[in-house]
Amino acid sequence: MDEYRPGPLPALQPLALDWLAQAAVQVAVLRLDRLDPELSGNKWFKLQHHLRAACEARKQGLISLGGAHSNHLHALAAAGRRFGLGTVGLLRGEACLTPTVRDLQDAGMQLHWLGYGGYRARNAPGFWTPWLERYPQYYPVPEGGGGLPGALGCAGLVAQLPALLPALGWSDYDGCWLAAGTGTTLAGLVLGEAGRHPVYGALAGPPAHGVAENIARLLDEAGVANGGYRLFEACRGGFGRFDTQLLAFIRQVERQCALPVEPVYTGKALLALREAVHSQVFPAGTRLLFVHTGGLQGLRALESQPCNA
Ligand SMILES: Cc1ncc(COP(=O)(O)O)c(C=O)c1O
Repeated sequence: MDEYRPGPLPALQPLALDWLAQAAVQVAVLRLDRLDPELSGNKWFKLQHHLRAACEARKQGLISLGGAHSNHLHALAAAGRRFGLGTVGLLRGEACLTPTVRDLQDAGMQLHWLGYGGYRARNAPGFWTPWLERYPQYYPVPEGGGGLPGALGCAGLVAQLPALLPALGWSDYDGCWLAAGTGTTLAGLVLGEAGRHPVYGALAGPPAHGVAENIARLLDEAGVANGGYRLFEACRGGFGRFDTQLLAFIRQVERQCALPVEPVYTGKALLALREAVHSQVFPAGTRLLFVHTGGLQGLRALESQPCNA
């Protein structure tokens, strides 16, 4: 049996919100946050091929990068512990003890703080050389679990979607809506959809982050024409920045629908969907799947930093 395989998809949750009802747009949430208590959201899908490659290369561990609130490092540390692999995290900025960093330490991840300048050099040629000399038995996983293996891991989930629809009384859907950070998950869904349904990405960061370019590159690497998706502005002043309107929206969604979302990705994606619905991007009768990409572990940081914009 292949142990590096996410379990079956959780049931879809229909979303009852007044702005959807008014526009006669139906949305059901694919609760990937419920997939696994530790490898939550898109992380299991993005990591599965990387884990398999590390295993096939007989590596003893995984090494990757991220910030002090990184959902990716959080999942990587948990995966390492689960599958008996060591983990090393290269962190942005100066040492600090966020709830996420505490979990990384508890999971046994070896941490190295690169400062801000050191982290900016992560895409420079030769960046990995000293780290792989220091940890020759560790398999390098790209930032965010990205790259084509990450996208291909997400592509696989599309095949499971039709089986979830009858429970809602749906025979089909008209598209998927999700947050895009690097666009890897979105590219995976585009590959999985193979033109059957469009995929809509809400940009968690500014256009300068190069998401459109990354998606085009991934599709090109997969040998597929660039298309089948549309990107929407959602970042509200910067990646990781959140304002009082966003926080009020998140609390309202939680209260009205029992749907937990966080402010960096899923909350912004849902708010951007509301804006798109208000702008009549979708005709009445549209049925969308909102892919909840997880990240709820990051909510703990809100307690110490209730608003940053
Ligand atoms: C919770 C959450 N949602 C969405 C994303 C964006 O995923 P991607 O970088 O594949 O676009 C991330 C980052 O991986 C994330 O942690």
